[in-house]
Amino acid sequence: MREAEYTTAQAKVAFTYNSRSPRTDPTHGRRPHRARLPNEQTRHQMVNAIQPPSQNTTTRPRISFLGCGYLGATYAICFAELGYEVVGFDVDAAKIESFNTGVLPMHEPGLPELLKKNLESGRLRFTTDVQAVADFADVHFICVGTPQRKGEHGADLSYIETAVVNLSKHLSRKVLIVGKSTVPVGTAQWVQELVDRHAPEGLGVEVGWSPEFLQESNAMHDVLRPNRIVYASQSEWASQLLKDVHRGILELAAVEDREVPVVETDLATAELVKVAANAFLATKISFINAMADLSEAAGADVVDLARAIGYDQRIGNRFLRAGIGFGGGCLPKDIRALSARAGELGVGESFRFLDEVDSVNTRRRTHTVRAVADLAGRTSGPNGPDLSGVRIAYLGATFKPDTDDIRDSPALDIARRLRSARADVVVYDPEGLENAKAYAPELSFVKTLAEAVADADVVCAMVPWEEFRTLDPEALGRQVAERRILDGMNAFDPEQWRKHGWSYQGIGR
Ligand SMILES: NC(=O)c1ccc[n+]([C@@H]2O[C@H](COP(=O)([O-])OP(=O)(O)OC[C@H]3O[C@@H](n4cnc5c(N)ncnc54)[C@H](O)[C@@H]3O)[C@@H](O)[C@H]2O)c1
Repeated sequence: MREAEYTTAQAKVAFTYNSRSPRTDPTHGRRPHRARLPNEQTRHQMVNAIQPPSQNTTTRPRISFLGCGYLGATYAICFAELGYEVVGFDVDAAKIESFNTGVLPMHEPGLPELLKKNLESGRLRFTTDVQAVADFADVHFICVGTPQRKGEHGADLSYIETAVVNLSKHLSRKVLIVGKSTVPVGTAQWVQELVDRHAPEGLGVEVGWSPEFLQESNAMHDVLRPNRIVYASQSEWASQLLKDVHRGILELAAVEDREVPVVETDLATAELVKVAANAFLATKISFINAMADLSEAAGADVVDLARAIGYDQRIGNRFLRAGIGFGGGCLPKDIRALSARAGELGVGESFRFLDEVDSVNTRRRTHTVRAVADLAGRTSGPNGPDLSGVRIAYLGATFKPDTDDIRDSPALDIARRLRSARADVVVYDPEGLENAKAYAPELSFVKTLAEAVADADVVCAMVPWEEFRTLDPEALGRQVAERRILDGMNAFDPEQWRKHGWSYQGIGR
């Protein structure tokens, strides 16, 4: 690993020097100040806090993002906000039209405002015309999906292949193609070979990699103010271009007196960093969920246990909340792809534990169905319980709060299992209803919390949206048929709920 070569401190020096020129001064003459920590700011303030830094195009490459999903769209919008000229490309024409008319086709806090603002600035546009993209950008980021292959654990790289081949054929000058999608180690080398085969001869197009760590629901903040930047290139030319591409982030950090560590490394390491991070997080979650099983069996309380071990800074208390398990478009498929790739490279044994991490996670779902059956007073036979006649108010369908993303959502999977057990499952989710309806049409969906809980025999509070975390046991109790609650979020005080006559069941307590 090479030492980080361009840090926030250097950006600060560059900024101080440039600040003599109003054209390149992101603070417009004000001295850099120590910004309040982002978590103290409201999202609205965060949007307005950004002033586009330097417009000096000699150090500001033009950028394209291929694939405008949760990752690519956030990047396109945020990089326009940072002062870059940006084009977003996608094969989904309806999505592109939506962006161009200023409507964000997904739920991500803060991003709709930023989309409108940057369309108006003229720095941001979206297209389905690959020739226009090839002609426009100096650096092309590949942000397409890499889902799990059907019937296998490995990653499906066909979207990457199509995007790269399509772009390469339309190039007419030397550019840098940077992979951002999460991929198995070795993909960058393969992408370089694809480019060499399909780009016009002699252009010398290069491939780099820069893994992404944004978290949906906090994506805008994570892109503008990342906790680290990781990238890899194959030449000094590409390395300089990657520095120029990230300059806006470092200049913003300098203005706000923050440090953003930069790790410049080789291609294989850059690819591995992301899956390693996700494997570590998944392991942490499954560890605490295994402790939840043990706590339930032994009469302990996993919430207190997690708090107690989390005070040890070597452990930390984040990602240590026992519950219904992890999901989403990243963690589950990434640990499976890592394990599969390790097997291909002959080191599969070292990663068998990840298969167990996956199994612990999936078992949460059967475990939760049993817990609901217990609450409803139904026994679980070898085929699970029969929940016919049980009306369940089901709160939450997304894989976490503040997103509309239902990919591999544990909450939605458990809802379907309850339906398979013949329960009448009435789902409410603040933002995920449309996606959930399309994926699980066998469930009933309602538009308000009140409709969901009316006359319910069991309330399942599954995704910690604020609307659910702040439920009042007495007010809720007046709307349901029976006071029984499964707290899949582990967010409530059991004593409080029991005091109001509820049968309360949490996870691991
Ligand atoms: N979503 C996250 O929070 C996140 C975070 C870090 C990394 N990642 C990784 O980023 C990648 C993308 O994830 P996502 O959540 O944005 O996926 P997504 O499914 O939301 O978006 C993928 C987009 O690519 C488009 N696409 C498909 N084929 C294309 C092609 N040939 N050319 C151009 N566009 C094409 C699709 O229409 C879609 O809009 C994945 O590898 C994922 O693991 C995602």
